[in-house]
Formats: sequence, structure tokens, C-alpha cells
Amino acid sequence: MRIHSTVIPSLPLRRSLLSVFFTPGCSSSPDNFNLCKFKISLKVVLVLLFIIISAPWAAKANLSCKSDSYGLVRPHSVTITEFGAVGDGVTLNTKAFQNAMFYLNSFADKGGAKLFVPAGRWLTGSFDLISHLTLWLDKDAVILGSTHSEDWPVIDPLPSYGRGRELPGGRYRSLIFGQNLTDVVITGNNGTIDGQGFVWWERFRKKTLDYTRPHLVELMNSTGVVISNLIFLNSPFWTIHPVYCSQVTVRNVTILAPLDSPNTDGIDPDSCDDVCIEDCFISTGDDVVAIKSGWDEYGISYGRPSKNIIIRRLTGQTRASGIAIGSEMSGGVWGVHAQDLRFFNSTDGIRIKTSPGRGGYVKDIYVANVTLVDVLVAIRFTGLYGDHPDEFYDPNAMPLIEKITFKDITGGNIKTAGLMEGIEGHTFGDICLYNITFTVTREPRWNCSYIQGYSELVTPKTCKSLSREIFPDHCSDCYGMSSYLQMSRNQSMEPWFFSW
Ligand SMILES: *[C@@H]1O[C@H](CO)[C@@H](O)[C@H](O)[C@H]1NC(C)=O
Ligand SMILES: *[C@@H]1O[C@H](CO)[C@@H](O)[C@H](O)[C@H]1NC(C)=O
Ligand SMILES: *[C@@H]1O[C@H](CO)[C@@H](O)[C@H](O)[C@H]1NC(C)=O
Ligand SMILES: *[C@@H]1O[C@H](CO)[C@@H](O)[C@H](O)[C@H]1NC(C)=O
Ligand SMILES: *[C@@H]1O[C@H](CO)[C@@H](O)[C@H](O)[C@H]1NC(C)=O
Ligand SMILES: *[C@@H]1O[C@H](CO)[C@@H](O)[C@H](O)[C@H]1NC(C)=O
Ligand SMILES: *[C@@H]1O[C@H](CO)[C@@H](O)[C@H](O)[C@H]1NC(C)=O
Ligand SMILES: *[C@@H]1O[C@H](CO)[C@@H](O)[C@H](O)[C@H]1NC(C)=O
Ligand SMILES: *[C@@H]1O[C@H](CO)[C@@H](O)[C@H](O)[C@H]1NC(C)=O
Repeated sequence: MRIHSTVIPSLPLRRSLLSVFFTPGCSSSPDNFNLCKFKISLKVVLVLLFIIISAPWAAKANLSCKSDSYGLVRPHSVTITEFGAVGDGVTLNTKAFQNAMFYLNSFADKGGAKLFVPAGRWLTGSFDLISHLTLWLDKDAVILGSTHSEDWPVIDPLPSYGRGRELPGGRYRSLIFGQNLTDVVITGNNGTIDGQGFVWWERFRKKTLDYTRPHLVELMNSTGVVISNLIFLNSPFWTIHPVYCSQVTVRNVTILAPLDSPNTDGIDPDSCDDVCIEDCFISTGDDVVAIKSGWDEYGISYGRPSKNIIIRRLTGQTRASGIAIGSEMSGGVWGVHAQDLRFFNSTDGIRIKTSPGRGGYVKDIYVANVTLVDVLVAIRFTGLYGDHPDEFYDPNAMPLIEKITFKDITGGNIKTAGLMEGIEGHTFGDICLYNITFTVTREPRWNCSYIQGYSELVTPKTCKSLSREIFPDHCSDCYGMSSYLQMSRNQSMEPWFFSW
């Protein structure tokens, strides 16, 4: 069914709503309406009431991320050439970017400022952004990452990782970096940020790195981040990495790196909340989008989950997964809503990766309307991923994986429909598959261990442990399959995440 418009509740209410409203779930099959036993009707009535009485501050959604309040007006604007930058692809402009930030900082409390980067090839080392800034790259503007590692300072590891992701100790700072910021916009007219990552990939392959490779863009502990309308090329490592951030929008970007480049993930929200990723094309060497939240004992003790994450209208290919959760998920991941996705020529479609030692949880995940073409494994759970930061992890720290719904998924030329490996003694539960059709070329089509759940309208027929029917008794065990139904039929409501 179509999703209509909408009453959007305020932020404090959103969390409670998440568990109540969900997508038009069961309603796509009208007969299911009456079959679906509804267990939380009181909650729904209360929320409905709340929405009705709170109408004055409610807003209409138009199915795009709600980021409108950031960077709309910047009273001051300067051009990078005013700070001595030369766009010849040879001159190193790190100082120019740093000086521009230093100067523009004085406008932070006056509505902020815009730094305009015109057409040209602007070579630079790593630089730091400021709050209330719009970094604007014009058409044919290319910010080029320096190929000399001395232009990339080494910074402390993230507390939720305890060390660099690929080597012990510190890590190179991202090309474009920001920490403790509010209201930062990186946008333009299809300008390009090119990490020239090949030098880093080469050092990785030859094992000559001293520290973990840098990201192309990293924002740390920041609120109100918008990244849009740009092209990101050849990141040394993960491309866009928001970590410990809130209210992050990534929209209408193209992210490219060779399919064989190592660990060039597209977008990795990491211990972040209220994240919206939409309308992107991503073709990289590693996961298109990977949701994370810290690593083993460090992630457990930091304890910051990734939550309230919307991903929609995404197309991509990779030698890894289209959407991945983990393997670093020790702070927990919940409330992920991914829909309208298309992945082709990829290794895995949707994958959840975890391991004993991670702790944490992955729950309340809803993935709908996905088209897969030429994908080796359509749906994949990996419970024994391994890969620990050091020997001090707690092997008894078990991840909890539950309430994960896959709905309206088609796949052509799939090798394995589902490779679903849970953890012995810690079965992944309430995994729900609804309306899924794959053409599969290899036996066994589904391979499940330590997995429990429900399914309906799935071809080829799924494994026994997932084959109990969703309707009528298990609708409310399936995240997103029951709760929205009752009101969606007439109210045309949608949950907050269609706006944010
Ligand atoms: C960010 O905040 C942390 C904690 O207050 C502080 O240690 C760090 O120096 C700050 N960094 C910047 C760049 O302001
Ligand atoms: C995060 O940033 C805020 C300022 O925006 C600062 O007060 C706080 O200490 C920072 N926290 C950490 C953990 O860096
Ligand atoms: C997407 O970005 C391009 C430039 O990269 C811009 O021309 C276009 O208007 C943007 N689309 C939307 C819907 O913002
Ligand atoms: C922006 O660049 C991408 C990648 O080159 C291209 O596919 C897209 O059509 C461009 N968009 C606009 C509006 O020029
Ligand atoms: C499903 O997603 C595709 C994009 O992959 C989109 O074109 C289509 O409109 C979506 N279908 C529904 C019913 O929303
Ligand atoms: C498919 O992926 C492989 C690498 O995994 C790559 O060599 C090939 O060019 C890709 N094909 C298309 C059509 O993109
Ligand atoms: C199943 O999903 C397809 C899209 O993949 C959609 O067109 C169809 O309406 C869905 N059927 C049901 C019964 O929900
Ligand atoms: C199922 O997957 C496991 C790995 O999880 C593999 O060891 C096993 O051989 C597979 N079973 C079949 C029948 O292919
Ligand atoms: C809901 O819609 C149906 C038709 O789709 C209509 O018969 C019914 O009266 C409506 N209920 C309410 C409460 O508006």
C-alpha cells in the first residue's frame, strides 16, 4: 500500500512511537487484518490520543529526511581562494582550509557561515570543521586528499573501539573531520571529495601501515550534520563515518571506490541516533551501509547504541553487503528501518554480523521493498564472525539478536537465499520473512542454524526453524508486522522515521 502523509510527533515522543507505529506491515494483505491478533491496543490508543491533541506542533512529512533547519541561511560567505588556496591539484591547501575555519568561527554565533569551494582541484591534508558551517563545493570543484601520510595527523582511537580498527594504537584523522560540533552542512552542486585512497590501499596490502587508515569524512560527537548533493571518491578506509552523533542526514550523494579496494565502506553510522540516509548511489569495495556501535569490551563499556536509523532509496553494489549491521555492535543497534533498496552484483544483500564477545544487541530491525540482482547470498546472519580487538574480550558476552523482519523482497540470480547462522545456546529469535521471492541457483537454498522465527509467502520454501506462519498468532512477534496496521488502514499515519 502507499504511504501517505502524516502527523509527526516531537522528538521526545518519537522513541515511544517507534515501538507502536510501524510500517503498513500486514495491511498489504487485507485478509490478514482480522487475523492479526493485536496485543498493544491500549498503547496505540494512548499514542493516537496524544497525536491528536498535540496537532498544533505536528508537521507534514514529504518522505524526505527532516534536516531543513540546518544551514538554510548563512549570512556570511567566503571563498577558499580568499585564504590563498590554489586549485591547481599540486599546491597543498591545508593551511588555507584551516585559516578559513579559524576566520569563519567568529560568525558561529551570528548564524554561521559558508565556505565556497569553486571549480578547481584543491589538494589538501586533513582539516577540521567548525559549528554552524556550510562547506559548499561547486560543480567541478574537487577536494583532493594528499597522498603523503604526514598531512594526516594521528589521533587517539575511539573509546568504543579501544584501539585503531585495523592496527593497535592511534589512527590517522579523516580528510574532513569535525568534533563536538552542531549544525554542520557539507554540500554543493555535485562537487567531489576524492581521498586518492590508492596509496593507502597499497600500504594496507603491503602491510606497511603504522596506524589505522583514515576515513574520508568523520564527524564525532556532533549534532545536526547534513551531507548532501556531492560525490565521494576513493576513500582510504570507510567513506562517511558519523560516530557518537545525533540528527545526521546523508542524502543524494554518490560514493564510488573500486570494487576491489579494501574496507572502503560507503556510510557507517556508528553509535549514532536519528540518522537518515536516502537517495544515494554507492559502489564500493566493502559494505554499502554498515551500522555499528563499538567493539567488544570497549563498545560494551562505552555503551552508546545506534538507534532510530532510516535508510531508503539506496542503490549499490559491493564485494560485501548492501546493508550490514555489525560486526561491531557492542553498544547495541535498534530501530532500523530500511526500505526501497536495490543491490546488484554484490556478495550479500542484507547481513547481520556478530560474535561471542561482542555483547550488545541487534533488535527491532525492519527491511522492506528490496530488489536484489546477481547477489551471492540474499539474507545472511553470521553469529561467529570473530575478529576481536585484543585478548581481553569476555567470551561470555553474548549478543542478543531478535525481532528482525524482512518484507517484500525479490531476488534474481541469487546463489543462496539465506545463510542464517545463529549462536549455539543463543538462538537468534523472532526472525520474520514475509513476501519474499528469490530465484536461487544453488542447494541448499536456505541454510539455518540456531535461528527461530516465522515466515509467510516465501519462495523458495525456507528452513524448518523459520517456517511457522506469521498469521494469525505471531504477527506481534514480528517487528513492524502488526502494530501499525490497526490505524494505518484509515488514518494515513506514518511513523516519525518517514520524516527524519
Ligand atoms: C570535544 O569534547 C571532549 C570532551 O569534552 C574534549 O576532550 C575534546 O578536547 C573536545 N574536542 C574539541 C576539538 O573540541
Ligand atoms: C561532546 O561535545 C560537547 C559539546 O558539543 C561537549 O560538551 C562534550 O563534552 C563532548 N563529549 C564527548 C564525549 O566528547
Ligand atoms: C541532488 O544533487 C544534485 C547535485 O549533485 C542536484 O542538482 C539535485 O538537485 C539534488 N537533488 C535533490 C532532490 O536535492
Ligand atoms: C552527479 O554526479 C554523479 C556521478 O558522476 C552523476 O551520476 C549524477 O548524474 C550527477 N548529478 C547531477 C545533477 O549532475
Ligand atoms: C520499492 O523500491 C523501489 C526502488 O528500489 C521504488 O522504485 C518503488 O517505488 C518502491 N515500491 C514501493 C511500493 O514503495
Ligand atoms: C561485478 O563485480 C565484479 C567484482 O566483484 C566486477 O569485476 C564487475 O565489473 C562487476 N560488474 C558490474 C556489471 O558492475
Ligand atoms: C509482495 O512484494 C511485491 C514487491 O516485491 C509487491 O508488489 C506485492 O504486492 C507484495 N505482495 C503482498 C501480498 O504483500
Ligand atoms: C550450511 O552452512 C554452514 C556454515 O554455516 C556450512 O558449514 C554447511 O556446510 C552448510 N550446509 C550445507 C548443507 O551446505
Ligand atoms: C475505514 O475505511 C473503510 C473503507 O476503507 C470504511 O468502511 C470505514 O468506515 C472506515 N472507518 C473509519 C473509522 O473511518
